[in-house]
Amino acid sequence: MSDEITPLVDQLAAVSVVEKAQFSDRVLIRSILGRPDGGAGLAGQKVRIGGWVKTGREQGKGAFAFLEVNDGSCPANLQVMVDSSVSDLPKLVATGTCVTVDGCLKTPPEGTKQKIELRVEKVIHVGTVDTATYPIPKTKLTLERLREVLHLRSRTNTISAVARIRNALAFATHSFFQEHSFLYIHTPIITTSDCEGAGEMFQVTTLINDAEKLEKDLIKNPPPTEKDIEAAKLIVKEKGEALAQLKAAKASKEDIAASVAELKEAKESLARVEERSRLEPGLPKKDGKIDYSKDFFGRQAFLTVSGQLQVETYACALSNVYTFGPTFRAENSHTSRHLAEFWMVEPEIAFADLQDDMNCAEAYVKYMCNWLLEKCNDDMELMKKNYDKGCIDRLNLVASTPFGRVTYTEAIEILEKAVAEGKQFENNVEWGIDLASEHERFLTEDVFKKPLIVYNYPKGIKAFYMRLNDDEKTVAAMDVLVPKVGELIGGSQREERYDVIKQRIEDMGLPIEPYEWYLDLRRYGTVKHCGFGLGFERMILFATGIDNIRDVIPFPRYPGKADL
Ligand code: 4AD
Ligand code: MG
Repeated sequence: MSDEITPLVDQLAAVSVVEKAQFSDRVLIRSILGRPDGGAGLAGQKVRIGGWVKTGREQGKGAFAFLEVNDGSCPANLQVMVDSSVSDLPKLVATGTCVTVDGCLKTPPEGTKQKIELRVEKVIHVGTVDTATYPIPKTKLTLERLREVLHLRSRTNTISAVARIRNALAFATHSFFQEHSFLYIHTPIITTSDCEGAGEMFQVTTLINDAEKLEKDLIKNPPPTEKDIEAAKLIVKEKGEALAQLKAAKASKEDIAASVAELKEAKESLARVEERSRLEPGLPKKDGKIDYSKDFFGRQAFLTVSGQLQVETYACALSNVYTFGPTFRAENSHTSRHLAEFWMVEPEIAFADLQDDMNCAEAYVKYMCNWLLEKCNDDMELMKKNYDKGCIDRLNLVASTPFGRVTYTEAIEILEKAVAEGKQFENNVEWGIDLASEHERFLTEDVFKKPLIVYNYPKGIKAFYMRLNDDEKTVAAMDVLVPKVGELIGGSQREERYDVIKQRIEDMGLPIEPYEWYLDLRRYGTVKHCGFGLGFERMILFATGIDNIRDVIPFPRYPGKADL
């Protein structure tokens, strides 16, 4: 350790007062164990802590117990010692038990690995656990098995470390964009536009509920028959005749008014009977198709696949903006890198081109890597130990190395050369294909061995909004590929020329009408602009080395699964 650092550590260790937790009457375990001295300097302090027992064991023939307690504020557990004179020990030691205790921090005996432990003076609260049924035993369960107990898996070391890393990356995201003067825009979850034009949207509708309700109602109260309608018509006729008679007989004003009221009511009743007689079970139809004018929004609506189109409306007024929210894709993918609900970070920059876009994407990814290296060391060490030996090296590499940049055409040439030299891919390689995950990973992991940006893709495989290049064959698109994951980011310079984008929408067979508002951005004050989308869970996969995307989002949704 250098001469300059030692005094600083000593200085911090000398601060022997535990930081009080706000909004709670206990202190965070991190404020004890997360200090540079591991808590040693706090010996003698009285504190209250709360947490869940990771492991507990009675010792000295039941004279005392040691509990490893974790409160989620850091990966480390606080060693807590309880004497049998203080509490009923068997109640405390089961894994998963919640405890709140008051005690005194003490230096443990020589030779133990802890720098500090807590000797309990008073037990304030115990939330007991029935070990026979508690689904998270002391022994490790596989991540796959833990997906069956989503509501309790946050009690495990891995899932809580992932939660802290995820939180840190979200904070880093806002910090990066705020530092660079981007405004955070909330784009809608419910939308009537298909951004990617890929038709992979979940529909939002109340028509099905309505149809079910109606079906039940029609069983309970069958619709009126022809006879009922005739009867209602007859009453209207009779009331009409009665009124005519009263008028002819020059009856009193009051009698005529009462008769008019009766006729009115009979007509309303007939209208109701006729309306009910028209009710049919099932979805409302018009010209043989579902009549969405009867739906909640008066038209078809969906969950968004991307906030891009909407955030562009703000970029074309406020210049630098970003959106960060959940996005939804109804693709039937069962891979370890696809979710039906995932989070996307989407910046959009006005007065900027594809080069600026790539520069922003690279700076943002590097910023997140540095953030984790600086702020999540203990959680990253846990990942390194349990999941991916190389994860910290990878963060360092990405933070310090310029990303590779090649055109799609160059990437295909590299892949074709590899094939000629004997490399085998499941998917054929030729100009015009959409790169498969195996191609992307080969390029970034084996060829470049670092993040790689591939740009200028064939227009045929990309979305309508990407700017057509002068060769008229490619568009100004870019994907950032990273080791371990493949595609992390997809982005592009947007087509700002009205005629060109209108033609692209038509050529792709998309209807113009839903995009009229989007075309307005080009009709009025159009501007060169670009943006990208980063798959937030893919970033967590890349950082942690966890294999399956279902384990880096608290509540994964994928085909056949939407627990809680
Ligand atoms: O490449 P994508 O489809 O791009 C867009 O949606 C653009 N509208 C973004 C923009 O330019 N504003 O998706 C962006 C990223 C992908 O690179 C990938 O990391 C992630 O979103 N992604 C998924 N992540 C998890 N599960 C899925 N089903 C995903 N689909 C895309
Ligand atoms: Mg993409």
